[in-house]
Amino acid sequence: MRNILHLISRLFGAERAHSLSVWLLRIADKIPTFKWFLHKIYAVENKALEREVFGMRFPNPIGMAAGYDRNGEVYRPLSALGFGFVEIGTVTPRPQQGNPKPRVFNLPEDKAILNRIGLASKGFETVVSNIRKGHEGIILGCNIGKNTVTPPEDAAIDYLRVFRNLYQYIDYFSINVSYNTTHKQYIPRTRESIMNILDPLFDFRRGQNQYRPILLKISPDLTNEEIDLMTDIMVDTPLDGIIATNATTLPEGLNTPQEELHKAGVGAVSGTPLTERSIEVVRRIYERCHGTYPIIGVGGLMTGEDVKRMMEAGATLVQVYTGFVYNGVGFAGNLCKSLLPTETPVTETTDNQQ
Ligand SMILES: Cc1cc2nc3c(=O)[nH]c(=O)nc-3n(C[C@H](O)[C@H](O)[C@H](O)COP(=O)(O)O)c2cc1C
Repeated sequence: MRNILHLISRLFGAERAHSLSVWLLRIADKIPTFKWFLHKIYAVENKALEREVFGMRFPNPIGMAAGYDRNGEVYRPLSALGFGFVEIGTVTPRPQQGNPKPRVFNLPEDKAILNRIGLASKGFETVVSNIRKGHEGIILGCNIGKNTVTPPEDAAIDYLRVFRNLYQYIDYFSINVSYNTTHKQYIPRTRESIMNILDPLFDFRRGQNQYRPILLKISPDLTNEEIDLMTDIMVDTPLDGIIATNATTLPEGLNTPQEELHKAGVGAVSGTPLTERSIEVVRRIYERCHGTYPIIGVGGLMTGEDVKRMMEAGATLVQVYTGFVYNGVGFAGNLCKSLLPTETPVTETTDNQQ
């Protein structure tokens, strides 16, 4: 299947291959026995993989990062493939198309993806209709953002709108302040601009019976001082954690020929070129907050070794996207296996994903 998707990606573009994979997962979602079968083949369940974070029990620490299941359509089959949690989104208030296609390019020489999708979203109403049936047994995060046409001074209204409408359906929220795939970038970097977004969310949460953790998803392109500022915000406010990092617009030492990069155009790069920087960012946050807050490490985790290094740097949980595209449907399960102590037998238990 991976080879077929790579062939489609080469012939018709990376976004078509992605759409096809989502379509196949949607079919899988409609056939409970198929999902059960996927779970039996790919998911790895073992007590040693479980993590208690934010008062929730994660079956394993490997999550699907935002951007893959943008509209909450395939989180159940992703869970069946062995992901311990799924972050849907970025969800914006109103539907928006994003940038013109083509806008996603695989860079195989770098085991990377360049994208300038520009937050294509069907809007929160469609997402609510996709997820309202519930997600028993699956931890579902939601990454939220503002519509591109919304000016930065009104950003907080957009975030609050998505947050309050999805609040009852979602286990944790990831606040995307790292949208940076084109020249039309939106990255609030000051305490004031971040708090303008977060304060209304904290206020809304205070009035609710259920507590939903709020995390900030940050860009690897922030300066180290800006990363310290984000960490201090986490320590000083009711923010629950940080997701580090999004894709980079400043990739270094790419092997992809200049000509191909030129053809692809501007965009943010994820995958291998990001590994060192995302680990460095997580380590910096961890040291500054003395390991007292959960950090979700994401960016260029392509092997079990990468995941271990990310956890050693201080990540409590991790997420992957590009590694899944390059390594195929067994990726989450394989990463889980690599985290097990060698003497621990891999036990597969009954499926509770349907
Ligand atoms: C095609 C594509 C689309 C993405 N879309 C989003 C998005 O909508 N929101 C977001 O917060 N991150 C998005 N990301 C970033 C990923 O969630 C992740 O932070 C980044 O790719 C680094 O992880 P990776 O190297 O494992 O891919 C996207 C990444 C890719 C490759």
